[in-house]
Amino acid sequence: KIIPVLLAGGAGSRLWPVSRDQLPKQFQPLVGNLSTYQQTLQRVNDEALYGEPLVITNEDFRFFARRQAEEIDLTATVVLEPARRDSAAAMAAAAVLAERREPGSLVLALAADHVVLDNDKFSEAVKLGASAAEQGNIVVFGLTPTEPRTSYGYINPGPSIDGNEDLCVVEAFVEKPDEETAISYVEKGYLWNSGNFLFRSDVMIAELKAYVPEILEAVTRSVDEHETDLGFVRLHKESFEASPKNSIDYAVIENTKRMAVVRGHFRWSDIGSWDAIWEIADKQENGNAVEGQGIFIDSEGCLIHSSSILTTVVGAKDLVVVATKDAVLVTPKDRVQSVKGLVEALKSSD
Ligand code: GDD
Ligand code: MG
Repeated sequence: KIIPVLLAGGAGSRLWPVSRDQLPKQFQPLVGNLSTYQQTLQRVNDEALYGEPLVITNEDFRFFARRQAEEIDLTATVVLEPARRDSAAAMAAAAVLAERREPGSLVLALAADHVVLDNDKFSEAVKLGASAAEQGNIVVFGLTPTEPRTSYGYINPGPSIDGNEDLCVVEAFVEKPDEETAISYVEKGYLWNSGNFLFRSDVMIAELKAYVPEILEAVTRSVDEHETDLGFVRLHKESFEASPKNSIDYAVIENTKRMAVVRGHFRWSDIGSWDAIWEIADKQENGNAVEGQGIFIDSEGCLIHSSSILTTVVGAKDLVVVATKDAVLVTPKDRVQSVKGLVEALKSSD
C-alpha cells in the first residue's frame, strides 16, 4: 500500500484576509464546506490503494490538523515541525518516517492546499505512476499549461515508458522560470508540475543524500530524537532547526536523474490567489461566484467570499470582495496578486 503524506505546513499570504499566519489556507474552507486539507485526506481515503496517512505540519497547527481529520471521521499520524524549514525538510521527514514504517515503502507526497475536482482521475494517475516509482523513479504529475505562470515548476516530457502515452521519462525539470522562459516552455509543450510526488522512501533518501546531505542529516536526527506527546510525533527541535531552508523542487527535483511524469487528466487548482478561487468556484449567470453569504445585482465576473456576514455587490464587474469577522478586502480581479504586498505592508505597520 502507498503511504500518503500531506505536506501541510505552508503559509499562503495572497489569500488574506481568510488565510492568516496562525490559520493558513490549507485549513480554511475556501471552496465548498471543507478545507483543502480535509479534501486531500478524503482524496487518499481508499483502503485498496493507501495506508494510513502521515500529516507533516508546523506545531502551531497541530490541533487544526487533528480536529479537522476527526470532523470527517478520518485518522492520520500528525508529525510536528518545530520550525519552518520549507518543503525539502518536510519531505525528508516523510521519507525517513516511511522508511522506518517499512523499508522501500511507496510514498505519495501531496500538497494539502490544492483543489482536485476529479479524485477518480487523480487515483488513476497515481496507479499509472506506481510501477515507475517501484522501479526507482521519482514520479511527478504533469498538467497541460493554460498560460505561462512563473509560480510553477515545468516538466519537459521525453519518450513514453511501456508504450503508455501518459507515462513519460522526464528530460528536464525547471522550478519557477522567469516569464520569457515560461512562455517558451508553454510553446514547446512542457507541463506544469502539480506539486504531488510519488516515490520509494529509500530512493528519496538516496537523492536527498546526494544533493542536500545537510537537510537529510538534520532531519534524520530530528526523527531519531522525536518525542510522542498526546499522540503527536514531535520532531526534535535543535536537530530540525539545523536543517537548511529549501523547497523540494530546488533541492532534489531539479537535480535528480531518476524521474518520470504521469500526465494528469484531473481538473486542478493550487488556489494561490483570489482569481483562482473565482475560476474554480461554481458560477451563477453573469459569471459571479459566491462562497458563503453573498448577493449580486447587475454585476458580472465577481467573487464574494464571506463566511460570517451577508455581503452584497451592486453594479460591479470583475470585482473580488472578501469579508471576514475582522477584515474586508475589495480589489479588482486583475489586482489580486498585490494582496501579498498588502499583507507585508500591514505586518510592517504593526
Ligand atoms: N510541512 C511543511 N512544512 N509543508 C510545507 C512547508 C513546510 O515548511 N513549506 C511548504 N509546505 C507545503 C505547502 O503547504 C504545500 O502543500 C507544499 O508544501 C508546496 O509548497 P508551496 O510553498 O506551496 O510551493 P509552491 O506552490 O511555491 O510550488 C510547488 O507547487 C507548485 C504547484 O502548486 C512546486 O512543487 C511547483 O513545482 C509546483 O508547480
Ligand atoms: Mg503552493
